[in-house]
Amino acid sequence: MDLFRTKPISELHSEAAASHELSKSLSPLNLVSLGIGAVIGAGIFVITGNAAASYAGPAIVISFIISGLGCLMAGLCYAEFAAMLPIAGSAYTYAYATLGEFVAWIIGWDLILEYLFASSTVAVGWSGHTQDFLGEFGLRLPAALCQAPIKYASGGSFQATGALFDLPAAAIVVVLTCLLVIGIKESANFNNVMVIVKVSVLLAVIAFGAWFLFGHPALTKANLTPFIPPNTGRFGEFGWSGIIKGAAVIFFAYIGFDAVSTTAQEARNPKRDMPIGILGSLGICMVIFVGVSVVLCGMARYTELNNPAPVVYALQKAGAPLALRVCVEIAAIAGLSSVILVMLMGQPRIFFSMAKDGLLPPSFARVHPRFRTPYITTIVTGAVATVAAGLLPLSVLGQLVSIGTLFAFVIVCVGVAVLRKLRPEVPRPFRTPFVPLVPILGAGICLVQMVSLPGDTWLRLVIWMAIGLAIYFGYGQRHSKLRRDDSTGPR
Ligand code: ALA
Repeated sequence: MDLFRTKPISELHSEAAASHELSKSLSPLNLVSLGIGAVIGAGIFVITGNAAASYAGPAIVISFIISGLGCLMAGLCYAEFAAMLPIAGSAYTYAYATLGEFVAWIIGWDLILEYLFASSTVAVGWSGHTQDFLGEFGLRLPAALCQAPIKYASGGSFQATGALFDLPAAAIVVVLTCLLVIGIKESANFNNVMVIVKVSVLLAVIAFGAWFLFGHPALTKANLTPFIPPNTGRFGEFGWSGIIKGAAVIFFAYIGFDAVSTTAQEARNPKRDMPIGILGSLGICMVIFVGVSVVLCGMARYTELNNPAPVVYALQKAGAPLALRVCVEIAAIAGLSSVILVMLMGQPRIFFSMAKDGLLPPSFARVHPRFRTPYITTIVTGAVATVAAGLLPLSVLGQLVSIGTLFAFVIVCVGVAVLRKLRPEVPRPFRTPFVPLVPILGAGICLVQMVSLPGDTWLRLVIWMAIGLAIYFGYGQRHSKLRRDDSTGPR
């Protein structure tokens, strides 16, 4: 029994070459757009305000830079792997080739946590924003259908809300799942439109904010002072520890650029275009996030930003025209829809790769004969995400998604350094610069952010992993294709 046997790289290459099942229709622009689609969402539109008000103050800008640098280093490592092994499984496949089947399973199971629950978390955010927006026009749902039946109260207990189901959250997941079954090209087109809307509106926010900041230097200075508020005496409440905690919290805003790597088998020219998609989307989002966070804290005092719509609030404080505020609402709704879409798109492609390797049942690898999409896993993912979005209080899951993603980034960084040592001769169309420095720094920054997340998030991660191990030893390990090949003789 060898838990750490690795999958031969030559085999991965022949699988990629032989695979004509999934449609190869994504251009480099589609890939950049998919990355931006997955990244810009609840993180920048909602969480930034809370992180500034509770942890970092105006220095949330530094938190964005620190977290962004960690992502950039992990992104460079993702780009090397995605160009070298253009298979749908993303970090799961990379781990299989470098660290062995057991680690690959752990990371695959961890990616399920990221994509499945990120889509549900963001669907709940979408529901809140959409209901607020429709409420402005007097349109309201019955109270029983507008939120989850339970909520998580501070102190760790659950409370009944009196509602039955979050209908809008469940409905958006159902609609986007249908779109994903119909086709990757259709989904990419929908995503492109959403991305244009949210990027244009955020650029308009930065432009208006910059105009306001330069026009009101005294007010801006007052809002941005002290830039790093003094620590309150508790770890993570302002000061430098607050900046680090802020980085861990707003890390959620960056999640998603890695989802580009799950579409490697559907890219027209993955060797060239994967690095463009991953690094291009990450770079654009980083610049936008830093710009938005600067103008946000310049337009309004950070202590006032702890509300569900901090961007709209700051614009209101700065006297921005109503039209711009309405556009921000629309962009948030568009932004959140595309995040849900790309997350729901990533998950079935991980299942697809795991099923191809025998670690999940073969039906998970079935592709629709006409639409050429992994329709069974798309429907399974959509169904679970619909139930989770409708019934669960997902505030807790946001942090769980972050810790899971950070864990995946650490493994990818370690994997790049390991494979450089073990298989230096394998052709790498894109090479991460300064190996092992970049992977070590990338893994280090991600680990520091993981450590800054609360202890109960770690506990939930351990429980999730324990369930995954039970499935691996109960099914995956016995059905592993690699194991069967090993036992049927040498290849
Ligand atoms: N980065 C995504 C968001 O902020 C998950 O919504």
